[in-house]
Amino acid sequence: MIEQLKISIDESRKLARGLSPVALGEYGLINAVNELTDLYSSMYNIDCEVYSECEAYHITNNVATQVFRIIQEAMNNSVKHSGGKNLNIVFSVNSDSSHKVEIIDNGKGFKTGAVENPGMGLSILKFRGQLIDSIVEIKSTIGSGTTITCKFR
Ligand SMILES: Nc1ncnc2c1ncn2[C@@H]1O[C@H](COP(=O)(O)OP(=O)(O)OP(=O)(O)O)[C@@H](O)[C@H]1O
Ligand SMILES: [Mg+2]
Repeated sequence: MIEQLKISIDESRKLARGLSPVALGEYGLINAVNELTDLYSSMYNIDCEVYSECEAYHITNNVATQVFRIIQEAMNNSVKHSGGKNLNIVFSVNSDSSHKVEIIDNGKGFKTGAVENPGMGLSILKFRGQLIDSIVEIKSTIGSGTTITCKFR
């Protein structure tokens, strides 16, 4: 138990410092997200899964890194705020062959336009989207959960 905790802390430190292997070739993004979901499943006692139509991504390191950080913030928000027990990361390919990732929780949801939400995370998430010409959508329904969608190429 303590050993597992040490490993988890070590891994989250690496991720927080930006040392996660996002920038390692075409499988980097999906591998990094798989590591993150394994970590969150064990650390937070939630069911956290990745579903993917595509494993190999021909994207730049910059796009991979920004998309990874967007996913990470959406996942952090979900464990911090949503209270949901299911957190799914779903990758798919659009008809124009660009990619889409959705981060979906089944938590309590929130009012997306409300001023009482003072954090920086969602603003940074949108800004990261702009940096890579991505469209990031935040949809949330009180009582049924939140979905963040990011399209990228
Ligand atoms: N998945 C979610 N489920 C429920 N509420 C959410 C979710 N994501 C965000 N929120 C709400 O939106 C607010 C703003 O989120 P944001 O990420 O910008 O800030 P934060 O997480 O509170 O702080 P920070 O990201 O700066 O550490 C949160 O405080 C929370 O009330
Ligand atoms: Mg946040």
